[in-house]
Amino acid sequence: MGRTIRIFDTTLRDGEQSPGCSMNLNEKIEVAKALEAMKVEIIEAGFAASSPGDAAAVAAIADIVHGSTICSLARCVEKDIDAAWNAIRRAESARIHVFLATSPLHMEYKLKMTPEQVIEAVAHNVAYAKSRCSDIEFSAEDATRSDLDFLCRVFETAIKAGATTINIPDTVGYMVPDEYAARIRYIREHTPGIENIILSCHMHNDLGMAVANSLAGVQAGIDQIECTINGIGERAGNASMEECVMALKTRKDHFGVDCAIDTTHIYRASRMIETITGVSVAPTKAIVGANAFAHEAGIHQHGVMANRETYEIMTPESIGLPKTALVLGKHSGRHAFEERLNELGYTLSKEKLDKAFEKFKILADKKKTVKDRDLEAIIGVAPVSGAERYTLVNFVINSGNSITSTAVIKMKKGDEVFERVAASDGPINAAFRAINKIVDKNIVLEDYSLKSMTDGEDAQAEAIVKITVDGSPMVTGRGVSTDIVEASIKAYINGINKFFMD
Ligand code: KIV
Ligand code: ZN
Repeated sequence: MGRTIRIFDTTLRDGEQSPGCSMNLNEKIEVAKALEAMKVEIIEAGFAASSPGDAAAVAAIADIVHGSTICSLARCVEKDIDAAWNAIRRAESARIHVFLATSPLHMEYKLKMTPEQVIEAVAHNVAYAKSRCSDIEFSAEDATRSDLDFLCRVFETAIKAGATTINIPDTVGYMVPDEYAARIRYIREHTPGIENIILSCHMHNDLGMAVANSLAGVQAGIDQIECTINGIGERAGNASMEECVMALKTRKDHFGVDCAIDTTHIYRASRMIETITGVSVAPTKAIVGANAFAHEAGIHQHGVMANRETYEIMTPESIGLPKTALVLGKHSGRHAFEERLNELGYTLSKEKLDKAFEKFKILADKKKTVKDRDLEAIIGVAPVSGAERYTLVNFVINSGNSITSTAVIKMKKGDEVFERVAASDGPINAAFRAINKIVDKNIVLEDYSLKSMTDGEDAQAEAIVKITVDGSPMVTGRGVSTDIVEASIKAYINGINKFFMD
């Protein structure tokens, strides 16, 4: 049996904690289920001590997900370890991930601890975590700017205290591949006890080398890659899971390792993260970008038609990209609708399917043909029904380039109906102002984007808003419609509903 590289997904922790990527409980659960379906070995579901919401999400995922180990991050202090353990204790397989910084910069300026105090804290807190949970990961934050011999001492201490996985993060994305590989080899040779330990890498992408560094780590003996879907994460992001996994699989001849991930779920997981966070994937992004499997140049198209391998090193099907763009229309029945969704990788509960079919029928009346991207737009990742505080009843907009725009918005909250009017320079802002009057909160629009989801004159528009409500963390709202104003209004209301749901 060859070596198998484990995938530790931190989309819900390192990914989610980056600005503009926050998710609510339902969204986190959906993502965790998608990761489980992909056969991710370890899901870092959150940082339980960071907030009650995070602790609740980690606990919910620990209850629901059975095929993956569920992990919570914890600083190297007892109260964090207790919070992590409380959140994951019901998981079928649980891991506590304890971290402490080891670089001179972090120890002096952030921790205000001496190297000896760091060693003591690791010894004490890793042992404390071990008294709760058998599976313990220890990370030396900023390991790649730490003194190598000190790092080996810290790791030896963590191993003696019970750590089973040792993580060597490139917290600030500073490494180049051969340098990282050399560090891993040094640590393997100079850390007593490391031979029985799972070694992990966790690379950030500040210099655009997170994936290359992870793969260099694999060649130097790393057993686990920490990564995120679409590479979301702090600053320039983390190593992208789809890129790491497809590199290992496509170049198995080179790396000589196995990886258990079911890659046919990649496309769907990527779209899910894009939809939930509102952070778009660049068209040229490897593996999941819209152009990743598109052949535009005539000479390439000709080659691909003769033999796909002329210009394709991976097949679109291998990442779950639907092969044929089957078209549905207003005469398509519920069965055809459901079957196409299944082919696209979506299995919906009856309740969600009913709602989605309703939306499909409305859309099919407006559009001649409904394509896969339309279906994805309909499905999105909707908040659970019944939990929506406000719903749009209707709206009227009056706008032009020689008048002030006005908007009349009618919305429902339970059985109560509200109607307000507002004016502004543009129709969308006027609509948002009218909604603000109804909700009566301090809603600040931090970001707004609008894009076409499909092609043609009757294309569906997707609006993404990022708002804060009374100084809350940023909330992402999404709305889809063939009318751009309606898409924007729906996105704004969706964001407000998500705020009230959290
Ligand atoms: O980047 C980092 O160092 C981290 C640790 C907490 C593992 O995210
Ligand atoms: Zn990180």
